[in-house]
Amino acid sequence: MNTTRFLTGITTSGSPHLGNYVGSIRPAVRASLGHNALSFYFLADYHALIKTDNPFRVQRSTLEIAASWLAAGLDPARVIFYRQSDIPEIPELAWFLSCVLGKGVLNRAHAYKAAVDQNVATGADPDADVSVGLFMYPVLMAADILIFNAHQVPVGRDQVQHIEMARDMAGSFNHRYGDHFVIPQAVIEAHVATLPGLDGRKMSKSYDNTILLFSSRADLQKRVYGIVTDSSAPGTPKSTTDCALFQIYQAFANADETAKMQQTFAAGASWAEIKQQVFERIDHEIAPMRGRYQSLIDNPALIEAILADGAARARALAIPLMRQLRHAVGLRDLRTSTPNDDHNTQGAAHPVTATSPQARATRPVFKQYREGDGQFYFKLTDARGRTLLQSTGFDQPQSAAQVILALTTQGAAALTEWAGHLTHGETASDEDIAAALAALVQR
Ligand code: TRP
Repeated sequence: MNTTRFLTGITTSGSPHLGNYVGSIRPAVRASLGHNALSFYFLADYHALIKTDNPFRVQRSTLEIAASWLAAGLDPARVIFYRQSDIPEIPELAWFLSCVLGKGVLNRAHAYKAAVDQNVATGADPDADVSVGLFMYPVLMAADILIFNAHQVPVGRDQVQHIEMARDMAGSFNHRYGDHFVIPQAVIEAHVATLPGLDGRKMSKSYDNTILLFSSRADLQKRVYGIVTDSSAPGTPKSTTDCALFQIYQAFANADETAKMQQTFAAGASWAEIKQQVFERIDHEIAPMRGRYQSLIDNPALIEAILADGAARARALAIPLMRQLRHAVGLRDLRTSTPNDDHNTQGAAHPVTATSPQARATRPVFKQYREGDGQFYFKLTDARGRTLLQSTGFDQPQSAAQVILALTTQGAAALTEWAGHLTHGETASDEDIAAALAALVQR
């Protein structure tokens, strides 16, 4: 139950290229097959709206990126694969987070600052063409992560600041409203290559130097032949240092193949021969996926079904958390009792408080506590203080909270799953427990 949760999002504003494949898709697919973790992969289409106002591009990119992940071997049964805009709890949480984050923090965000700096440099108004969406980008991203209480977020270096901000938001929310969020961590994958593009700079849409992940074999060949090299003639030994072609080859080849390629360079093969070998090596890896990719693109209904299933599983986690958060901040059913705070004690009438005898007499409660053994426990008591359920000890308070959450959202249905962690109170019948949980779920 303490499974590490990984989460990664990809903005759906373009066509996937080899850089995305090497830097993000391939390592994520491998990771999802490997360890015993719960992984979340999502199409960040709300984020895409910050980058483009072309609806066709957003739609097409969402289709292409979803098809690419699936073609590359992402198994939607092993991970939670979904589309951000299918989870309305994400923008709702973003609003909550925006209310606990200082505006000054966002003023210092790299992407926003870069846009402002550029405006200042050209003498324009500092905020010219800067949308509130761009400004709020880190808040939406924090909501993506916190809504699933992800522990680890694999990202490129350019995203580390955003994770710092997500940690900041999680911390200030927890500080005000109690421990609801895991503080997420950025995972920078040092062994994952940053692929150079055609011109040797980082492969990126913004430099227009990309090689599409999925195009025809002929197009792939044409693009690989377009990779810039120096002008050393056939027969002269070639250097692999700072050679984009070599680095791209290396990202696909194993150690033996790479060593052989080094020899080919040293032996003075022509650039044309080398490019042909590089092309064949990339194509060898991509070709088997090409057919799967095309058949997915041709079957958008299948992708929709996969994403709908992912969204349902994601929302099964997001909805109860959001319910808990709404309650925590005070967005509550007005029929539930409110604690007696400074504001409402001034009035004449005495409201029923959570700790008043009336309140205690009318509903069951969960009590969390820590024992001398350092473990975290909880029990469920009924209106008269009788113990209905007693938990075993948990290493982490969050683990205890997770079980309480399941019980307060799913009611008695959650009892079987957590049976190993729960014992019945001595005088409590199954019916007593079911009734108490039903009362809690209803709130
Ligand atoms: N900002 C990320 C990018 O542009 C995409 C993204 C959106 C993301 N939300 C996220 C990544 C949450 C990790 C976690 O690459």
